[in-house]
Amino acid sequence: MNLHVDATRLIDELKTLATFTSIEPSTEGTAVTRVVFTPDDLRARAWLKDLAAAAGLVIREDAVGNTFFRWLGTDPALPAVATGSHIDAIPHAGMYDGTVGVLGGLEAIRALQRSGMRPRRSIELVLLTSEEPTRFGIGCIGSRLISGTLDPQKADALHGAQRGSEAETLAEVRTAAGFTGPLSSVRLPPNSYHAWVELHIEQGPLLEREQVPLGIVTAIAAPAGYRFTVEGIGGHAGALLMPDRRDALCAAAEIILSLEKHALATGVIDTVATVGTCDVYPGAVNSVPSRVTLQVDIRDTDPARREGVMAAVRRDIEALSKRREVRVTESLVNADEPATCSPHIVATIDAVAREFGIQPKHMVSRAYHDSLFMARIAPIAMIFIPCRGGVSHRPDEFAAPDDIALGTRVLASTLGKLASE
Ligand code: GLV
Ligand code: MN
Ligand code: MN
Repeated sequence: MNLHVDATRLIDELKTLATFTSIEPSTEGTAVTRVVFTPDDLRARAWLKDLAAAAGLVIREDAVGNTFFRWLGTDPALPAVATGSHIDAIPHAGMYDGTVGVLGGLEAIRALQRSGMRPRRSIELVLLTSEEPTRFGIGCIGSRLISGTLDPQKADALHGAQRGSEAETLAEVRTAAGFTGPLSSVRLPPNSYHAWVELHIEQGPLLEREQVPLGIVTAIAAPAGYRFTVEGIGGHAGALLMPDRRDALCAAAEIILSLEKHALATGVIDTVATVGTCDVYPGAVNSVPSRVTLQVDIRDTDPARREGVMAAVRRDIEALSKRREVRVTESLVNADEPATCSPHIVATIDAVAREFGIQPKHMVSRAYHDSLFMARIAPIAMIFIPCRGGVSHRPDEFAAPDDIALGTRVLASTLGKLASE
């Protein structure tokens, strides 16, 4: 197959997509903030739909905004081969996370079309809604619903997780964005896909460090999310005497350090724990914090070890709440299982890479991806490309055009092979 990826066009499209952002370009790099269902997200979706229509793809949108772009195969009744990722971006992100998989997926389909191939199975590009947890506190909403992992009613009742947006619900926000209908209709029947392959930047340092231009994911680590609310007693920062204080933020600080301590104590690099938001009420410099909410992200390749860390943190919380006389409540956001990739798809990608003269690295993904949930309804694998310094979720995130082009070429060839099966 004569596969030519138009790298210049693909990089131009990535740059254009990066202009759909709600913050100004930053000196740190191409900062992108594109939170799901904001005007920037909706403008980006409209632009992408035009590109896909120009490629002759059939477009379908579901009730949560997952968007399916299908190149019909010669045997369209067969389960399709799918690829895709996300275009939403956390605050002050870079321009490659997710977008490489979406625009790379589109270019892979165009490359196959240009090669003159007619696939037996349909090949579908999928844009998944809200991979990032920024707006509603939980990631991968679109792929959770597709795979039946998230209850549709609970999904619609999800509340805004950003400060000041607590009152909004997913039901209201998606309806206002033009995505209507019951969320129960989003779930895909089993056997919808013959295979799912996601192209993504590594978001870690290993490929660059080992000078390997391509990774093949064999497993995806299991993430969990929790919310802790600490309630103490507030008051005047000058007048409330130190021995009388029940400072909620000081207690929250102990919780944060407890998480760090117990994640380190496993002695395994696969255990990671992060407190990425800390909402302090009432949030005035001269007021003792009376209430603090923490959003906790904890991951491991072994969910039992992850639960062990949480159990140790809970013991610390019990002790510190007594000592500090504060009340701590915990709510579970998500506790997911890891995913294992399909040996057949991994072998297919491996063979394609070797045809291109590359010895790929087989590796675990410590970041989560929609593929974690697509794995529940289809055989999956992922293709990783290096990113500079392993940096991601930062404006200086960067992937080299040659690596993007190679990843896209390997994706195209893999999709072509799987679609012929
Ligand atoms: C995805 O963005 C993740 O946080 O792993
Ligand atoms: Mn991300
Ligand atoms: Mn991503």
